Amino acid sequence: MGLIHETDYGTKPSASAKTVALTIDGTKVEVAEGISIMRAAMEAGIKVPKLCATDTLDAFGSCRLCLVEIQGRNGTPASCTTPVAEGLVVSTQTPRLKQLRRGVMELYISDHPLDCLTCAANGDCELQDMAGAVGLREVRYGYEGENHLDLAKDESNPYFTFDSSKCIACSRCVRACEETQGTFALTIEGRGFGSRVSAGAGETFLESDCVSCGACVQACPTATLTEKSVIEIGQPEHSVVTTCAYCGVGCSFKAEMRGQEVVRMVPYKDGKANRGHSCVKGRFAWGYATHKDRILNPMIRAKIADPWREVSWEEALAYAASEFKRIQAKYGRNAVGGITSSRCTNEETYLVQKLVRAGFGNNNVDTCARVCHSPTGYGLSTTYGTSAGTQDFDSVEHADVVVVIGANPTDGHPVFASRLKKRLREGAKLIVVDPRRIDLVRAPHVEAAHHLPLRPGTNVAVLTALAHVVVTEGLANEAFVRANCDLAEFNRWAAFVAEDRNSPEAVAAISGVSAETIRAAARLYATGGNAAIYYGLGVTEHSQGSTAVMAIANLAMATGNIGRPGVGVNPLRGQNNVQGACDMGSFPHELSGYRHVSDDGARAMFENLWNVALDKEPGLRIPNMLDAAVQGTFKGIYIQGEDILQSDPDTHHVAAGLSAMECVIVQDLFLNETANYAHVFLPGSTFLEKDGTFTNAERRIQRVRKVMSPRNGLGDWEITLAFAKALGFAMDYAHPGEIMDEIAAVTPTFKDVSYTKLDELGSVQWPCNDKAPAGTPVMHVGGFARGKGRFMITEYVATDERVGPRFPLLLTTGRILSQYNVGAQTRRTANIVWHEEDRLEINPHDAEVRGIRDGDWVAVRSRAGETSLRALITDRVAAGVVYTTFHHPDTQANVVTTDYSDWATNCPEYKVTAVQCLPSNGPGAWQSRYREHAARSRRIAKPAEVAE
Ligand code: SF4
Ligand code: SF4
Ligand code: SF4
Ligand code: FES
Repeated sequence: MGLIHETDYGTKPSASAKTVALTIDGTKVEVAEGISIMRAAMEAGIKVPKLCATDTLDAFGSCRLCLVEIQGRNGTPASCTTPVAEGLVVSTQTPRLKQLRRGVMELYISDHPLDCLTCAANGDCELQDMAGAVGLREVRYGYEGENHLDLAKDESNPYFTFDSSKCIACSRCVRACEETQGTFALTIEGRGFGSRVSAGAGETFLESDCVSCGACVQACPTATLTEKSVIEIGQPEHSVVTTCAYCGVGCSFKAEMRGQEVVRMVPYKDGKANRGHSCVKGRFAWGYATHKDRILNPMIRAKIADPWREVSWEEALAYAASEFKRIQAKYGRNAVGGITSSRCTNEETYLVQKLVRAGFGNNNVDTCARVCHSPTGYGLSTTYGTSAGTQDFDSVEHADVVVVIGANPTDGHPVFASRLKKRLREGAKLIVVDPRRIDLVRAPHVEAAHHLPLRPGTNVAVLTALAHVVVTEGLANEAFVRANCDLAEFNRWAAFVAEDRNSPEAVAAISGVSAETIRAAARLYATGGNAAIYYGLGVTEHSQGSTAVMAIANLAMATGNIGRPGVGVNPLRGQNNVQGACDMGSFPHELSGYRHVSDDGARAMFENLWNVALDKEPGLRIPNMLDAAVQGTFKGIYIQGEDILQSDPDTHHVAAGLSAMECVIVQDLFLNETANYAHVFLPGSTFLEKDGTFTNAERRIQRVRKVMSPRNGLGDWEITLAFAKALGFAMDYAHPGEIMDEIAAVTPTFKDVSYTKLDELGSVQWPCNDKAPAGTPVMHVGGFARGKGRFMITEYVATDERVGPRFPLLLTTGRILSQYNVGAQTRRTANIVWHEEDRLEINPHDAEVRGIRDGDWVAVRSRAGETSLRALITDRVAAGVVYTTFHHPDTQANVVTTDYSDWATNCPEYKVTAVQCLPSNGPGAWQSRYREHAARSRRIAKPAEVAE
């Protein structure tokens, strides 16, 4: 086992298909036109010394170490900034070059601490390597003169240090922050000898605009920017490529290890989703895996008022199985169900739904996609025939116009946001449709052409008004529609959207967005070249979520923006494996690959394979399970890796449902909020501790590889197997690879997927089958998956959740960069320094009329419940709208969200809750009661108590 080293070619590759021939150090090479001499040499295995160049950044040409001689040309040009040309004869090693390089290195080293033996980067320092490469043997200048050796370290960032005394002012960090991350937090201050890297005038890294993505740390060739984990642990000795377990971008990382300890997570340059970039969560926030709060032993209790009792795996599973059997014997087969986890692997979710369908004997299985992107599945399968996004992330590099609707990529999908911002800096135009002024509306060197700050709940009206402009101004792509779509349905739809009531002028009154802005945005989308739509939960989590997805699909079809790179309809999926959880058959009505349970052929295939009869009736969705529990007909649930008490709407109702059950089994890393109502706790494992696959928002299936033994003793897939066995339904797999083989055998879109193929190709985007053995980066090329694209009528129906005198403001919710969902993982890392509590964003006008000052406690009351948060006064939100995140259980934003949901899928209407906000004295009575209840529920009996 060794470290996986990715070659640094010094400068970027070229996309040119043309080649040129040249000679480097006597070797004839043929390389792509447009690359640098440095890269051409590297591709031929000739290493040119370098310091300021790295192949993830544009060449800069400042260090003068990579000089070469070119026959017939004067001087010694820098090979990193000199492009190849036909017939060049290049020398990289001549006496003159050697002398020049030694001189350069001598200057660097004369102002650099000579503490190599105790430096954290010892063995992983390009400065050290270059001193060796150029044969530097002595430094003549001494250290007495003016130097930078005593500069103070900046230790403010929780994850990396900045030791300015070691900086060689190569500017790689500054360029990484600009080019890769797009934050522009760093500058080189001063000139000449005084040039120093700075995170802002007089600011530390923590105080600056830095978002802690780590790109600068990765780019730094010296120990100036170093991970604190490397300083504490030492250099890694082996690495394993795996996939981030946070968001749906699906970044590839090298887990760099010493033994079983993670030293650092380094974004993998060959990762096709992230292309070597990362955000603060995947890069740094993995410490939760070894956090002291992790529960490592199974526990049971007869009543939720009892303390937990630690038991063996055998006892816990036998108890859980006997309870489920008892419940089914007493209340019937349908009285139990399961929830799969979008944080777990495809193989694990497949097993849970198999256990429910074949072991429990019903279809009562659901997943967290119910509460996020289930409308995407419904809307896109209805219109296009496939329940997934149409593009790969690379596609954004070909977009001329990008529409972001109800998504906040810089916080929710940061690495995609960086790729998007890069494209915008190159000149693509941006349209943002969002009630909040998200960061993308105005970021460094990025400004949205149009921001449509619509009133929450009016997406469908605005999307239909955009379509109105497309149709009535003759901007539809009729040739595309004729060739690819059902024409009769298009005509019906076109007549509908053209009605006056759907005009921007009529919709302006409903949405609060001016008619001119809607018109201008529609014209830009329809006529600006390749136009791509990216959307998030601000589209789906509404009573008309599915309608809004179909409205988006209609727009893309009408303008021909589908079926090639640069266009498409792209749901930004929330959790790492929410796409996979849906693909694997986690919904109560669908088997893997989105085959309906009533499909006799599909069911028969599974019945033959699993040797059981399957129910052809769809089972219960999560909200129906909770309703049935309150009504007394649903009594037992197996929840793998999902905290429904905190994440699902109307917390009081969730609590009532869970309290009414007789056996709640929670399998998780920590005693989460749902576990307060559980009778069996099965300790789960982290992504670092198991093998499997995740499928990201691009349908990209990627390997998750075990880098350490499960601290609880078992991977999650093994726990499900053991539970199934205890129930008498044995499932026999020796390794997750065998589960994937079964998935591939029964799921047409995964037909050719195997671990061998994933190891060979790195990743595969489904559909992967005989027609597309290497996967499908862009869907619906040359025609829609369902045959003809289907235009759907998108009648706007206002939500029943209305503002009025009692509840005059609209609350909408979202995420923040440093935290992830219910925060179970990120709250247990140093990321907490960026978000210690959920705050209520309120417009200055709304705050003033209520006498609320910044930082004051505010009671937020809806017809579902009340909670208190501290105010953050900002004009990011318009008057009449308030906003909060939901990362902290103490505030429980979902206490106030209601039980309204999408008409087609039951996806909750998180994004629209009518509330009143008034000053309060602090956390409300409910919060105090809840905290006491949670503390009681988490009590683990001491051995003496157990003996009694
Ligand atoms: S960590 Fe990222 S955002 Fe912060 S300075 Fe470095 S590159 Fe810029
Ligand atoms: S901090 Fe590192 S990358 Fe940045 S200028 Fe200094 S040596 Fe170069
Ligand atoms: S959280 Fe998302 S964007 Fe960040 S590193 Fe992980 S997969 Fe990438
Ligand atoms: S590597 Fe070419 S000038 Fe620095």
